[in-house]
Amino acid sequence: MTKMSTATLHWGACTEARFLRDFWQRKPLLLRQAFPGFQPLLSRSQLFALAADEDVESRLLQREGRRWQLDHGPFARKQLPSVEQPNWTLLVQGVNLHVDAAGELLRQFRFIPDARLDDLMISWASKGGGVGPHQDAYDVFLLQASGRRRWRIGPVHDATLQPGKPVKLLSRFTPEEDLVLEPGDMLYLPPGWGHDGIAASGDCMTYSIGFRAPPQGELLKEVLWQMAEAQHGGDLYRDPPLRPQATPAQLPPAMVKFAREAFARLKPDAAWFENMLGLYLTTPKPQVWFEGAEAATSALRRACRQSGCRLDRRSKMLYTATSVFINGEAVDAPLSSSALLRALADQQALDAVQVQSASPAEVALLADWCALGWLQAGGGALASAARKPAQA
Ligand code: SIN
Ligand code: CO
Repeated sequence: MTKMSTATLHWGACTEARFLRDFWQRKPLLLRQAFPGFQPLLSRSQLFALAADEDVESRLLQREGRRWQLDHGPFARKQLPSVEQPNWTLLVQGVNLHVDAAGELLRQFRFIPDARLDDLMISWASKGGGVGPHQDAYDVFLLQASGRRRWRIGPVHDATLQPGKPVKLLSRFTPEEDLVLEPGDMLYLPPGWGHDGIAASGDCMTYSIGFRAPPQGELLKEVLWQMAEAQHGGDLYRDPPLRPQATPAQLPPAMVKFAREAFARLKPDAAWFENMLGLYLTTPKPQVWFEGAEAATSALRRACRQSGCRLDRRSKMLYTATSVFINGEAVDAPLSSSALLRALADQQALDAVQVQSASPAEVALLADWCALGWLQAGGGALASAARKPAQA
């Protein structure tokens, strides 16, 4: 169902380095014809077919005057309104998990660390459709894939939300700019920037390439959860010498002290945080599953040596100086120091020559990952097509 994308991001007068210095996380940037002649990766009917799949996260948002209705997928085609009916939009999340060409598009954005990348969301809207004025906790590139969309954007001075709406809509949003995007145009917005995109034509498809800015509270929750798990329950609370209780409902101060002491004993070091983030950021989303290879591991080893291998589009791989993480697991020593695995993570593929120079343990690990469906044998072409380093 996928078409190969040949789209290449054009920066015009800007460069990646200038963009990162002057705009990234600072202010919006409109790149006219960032992808000249851009062709949508999926037709409307292919996108609607994705929204009918129960493994795909999708939402339908319809507006009638000031009334908004939100429904969650999957949606059979007949559950979607007619394409002629105005003011509705279908949002399909995580398209890169299902369509190889989407992964190719995302590779154009690898001048930003993979750890920040969330997903590619595609929206289809009939004329007048949109999600209303809002802000996101994401850096986002909004690429117009078909039709025209009018974006009204501006800083948010008042984050009050409209009460009683099924989606978060700003009550008092005063846009400062009004832009109409044509196919191939792309608008970058930093997190928290207000935006309201309305389809100015029918058949309006917008691709949101989102880079999640995780809030500290979320990371803290993960840190505390992982630390608690590592305690394996920990010591049991013991009562101090007790006397018969005249006030049995009173919370014992000793219990409060016990909880405080448990917390005070936690002393995570930098390596611990590195490990925690590596596992957390590579853990697949709950709806992701892999199709393991049927072949025997000896055949998979041979296939990797003969034609290289590439990361499955659903795989997430990150590394640090001391660890390698893939799909929520850390590679054990001594392979955690493997340069080859780091090359795999950066290039998202290894060619046959690279695999042939690998150690038997490395090749065995690659074959194990092929068996799990985390890697596909035979992806050497991708390695050689890996992104060039960002221009200065
Ligand atoms: C859309 O594509 O309609 C919404 C994208 C966004 O506002 O983040
Ligand atoms: Co948004």
